[in-house]
Amino acid sequence: MGWLSYSSDLGYLVAAALFIVGLKYLGSPRTAPRGNQLGAIGMLIAVVVTLLRMSGAEGGLIGLPLILIGLVVGGAIGAFMAKKVEMTGMPEMVGLFNGFGGGASALVALAEIVRARDAFGAGRAEGLGPTVFVLAIGASSLIGWVTLTGSLVAVLKLNGTMRKNIFLPGQNLLKAVLLLACIACTVGLIYTPGNLLLITALVLAAAMLGVLFVIPIGGADMPVVVSFLNSLSGCAASATGFVVGNNALIISGALVGAAGLILTGIMCKAMNRKFADVVFKAYGATGSTDTGEKRTVQGYEAEEAALAFDGARTVIIVPGYGMAVSQAQHVVRELADELERRGSEVRFAIHPVAGRMPGHMNVLLAEANVPYEQLFELDDINSSFSECDVALVVGANDTVNPAAHTDPDGPLGGMPVLDVEKARTVMIVKRSLSPGYAGVDNDLFYRPSTMMLFGDGKKKLTDLLGAVKEL
Ligand code: TAP
Repeated sequence: MGWLSYSSDLGYLVAAALFIVGLKYLGSPRTAPRGNQLGAIGMLIAVVVTLLRMSGAEGGLIGLPLILIGLVVGGAIGAFMAKKVEMTGMPEMVGLFNGFGGGASALVALAEIVRARDAFGAGRAEGLGPTVFVLAIGASSLIGWVTLTGSLVAVLKLNGTMRKNIFLPGQNLLKAVLLLACIACTVGLIYTPGNLLLITALVLAAAMLGVLFVIPIGGADMPVVVSFLNSLSGCAASATGFVVGNNALIISGALVGAAGLILTGIMCKAMNRKFADVVFKAYGATGSTDTGEKRTVQGYEAEEAALAFDGARTVIIVPGYGMAVSQAQHVVRELADELERRGSEVRFAIHPVAGRMPGHMNVLLAEANVPYEQLFELDDINSSFSECDVALVVGANDTVNPAAHTDPDGPLGGMPVLDVEKARTVMIVKRSLSPGYAGVDNDLFYRPSTMMLFGDGKKKLTDLLGAVKEL
């Protein structure tokens, strides 16, 4: 069956090339949809080639019909979830899929190591000796289980089910012990292949490690964890590729792992944090600084607030998670158009961790056809707030919270924020005085130059748009 092996290698090569070109296209919002399509075509080719290989000479653990049933059932569940998910539920869904990716890799490794008990000897993957084979299985199991349980905890944190960040004394030491235990089990498996006790210990230690890794982290540091788990899911897949001798899996996993690591670096930079500090210091565990102290401010009606736009030369709109919740992006664009028509220069300030997933605001604003030229990243726009007439904050909170500067030891301490308080007028649209994701009270609401417009983002902006048109 030489031709089968030759053509499957060729198929994998084409798939890998499509992944790489697709990633390149993902570098800009303009070309990202094309990048996505190319990646999907690459994955389809890889899946078809793998199925053909399995139906051919190489065979597999289970028959083709069972695989096809799995594909149909899994595909249907995935399609249903993707169709049903609300835009605000996307981060949890992405987190869940990361976890499932890691879990799938870990299960494949588990199947292979159990099988190795009977057929240990040459190592299954082409060119891999038994030791390297077991090491690949150990890596796949360790990273896979950590990704699964860590991602499940992350999902609970993202959807607000788990609000507390738990950092127990000796937690870092326990993590180190669990990591060493995983390594020891893997080494043990080299000498006693398929030892069920070692396999069980490896799975339990890695699963616990995943939980302990994520439970102390929360608040503003979640973006770093989510992107790191994404990277881990790729690394687990790549390790599994070595286990089952599949080049497409090795390459695609390595690409996800590397891209996720780069994103983790970007997120750390955005949060002004060292990765090691996020993981070991657990800033989120310092807890909420919402003092519970009841301060009040007077809310403004849309008609009063609209007057601030009269004669405004520059307006900077700052979107946040609340814009996603209220689906206000379309009316935000209409308001921006109206203000431009009236002679204001309108720009959008995008904080790198605004919302609940990387690029959240960019996706929403692109959906509302806001031109890319109007979007500015934090570093490019922060100095402009001091010359800005109105900073309109739509459902953003942590990303504009001055506590990042004033409380260096708090959960937001040191995180770069958009300096909206420097604008002549700060207009904030949200429903209440409640804090943002990190649970930190926001002094900005109480400042004399701030106008609070309380209400649902979409409703309040619709009123504001109407009032601006009446000016
Ligand atoms: P947040 O700090 O989460 O604040 C969002 C605000 O939106 C809330 O204070 C809420 O106030 C308001 N809101 C909710 N529903 C609304 C509605 N229907 N209409 C109007 N306002 C509404 O948002 P942010 O400034 O975008 O910051 C994001 C936070 O999430 C950061 O701490 C970040 O670290 C974290 N995070 C980000 C990511 C990624 S990758 N971006 C992932 C995980 C976590 P009310 O309840 O008073 O309305």
